[in-house]
Amino acid sequence: MKRLILALDVYERERALEIAECTADYLWAVKVNWPLIIGSGLGIVTELKQVTGLPVIADLKLADIPNTNGLIARRVFGAGADYVIAHGFTGRDSVKAVMELGETIIVVEMSHPGAREFIQPATDKLIELTNELEPFGVIAPATRPERVSYIRSRLKDGIKILTPGVGAQGGKAGEVLKAGADYIIVGRSIYESENPRESARRLHEEILGV
Ligand code: XMP
Repeated sequence: MKRLILALDVYERERALEIAECTADYLWAVKVNWPLIIGSGLGIVTELKQVTGLPVIADLKLADIPNTNGLIARRVFGAGADYVIAHGFTGRDSVKAVMELGETIIVVEMSHPGAREFIQPATDKLIELTNELEPFGVIAPATRPERVSYIRSRLKDGIKILTPGVGAQGGKAGEVLKAGADYIIVGRSIYESENPRESARRLHEEILGV
């Protein structure tokens, strides 16, 4: 089963398409974030789907009022994105505005050190919100497998856990999958490596061994 998501955080369209195409065999999905959309335009979402045939996750971490979240999400889903990532701390109306338009993933905790300041203290409430709204999934930190276990234990069955933070941020794929993650998200360890295909293949093998 494929459980690897490529975080394609490069600016250049051609480089992005090249890396996505050569790693696609080992991926469940490709994640695009602001760097690629700013560098290459929203059309890259459509192109990535055509080139790889894989789902595309738009990691925009939407955090605005419902109307603005909706205006953004409408265009992004319209370009072919299969999933959009939104923050939950803006409240249920803002999240619902995205969910009405397509599959949504809610951030319940983040992987960087600063996440301890404001997001982690709110995680329980964000999990409650998620259990009420039942989106496709949540984002949880691969850098803290114990937090992934905790989130899994409180999250309704069927809601997926996607975890960034493997590799460059220090998280280990095996540990976080054993802790309850469904998918791992990896960026720099793949796209900055000398051989992105080989790096993706190794991660895929590691996932199969769990
Ligand atoms: P690296 O290069 O660190 O890239 O493998 C990770 C990717 O995932 C994003 N990211 C996060 N997104 N919550 C999120 O919603 C997080 O805690 C988080 N940590 C990393 C990051 O922007 C990059 O695209």
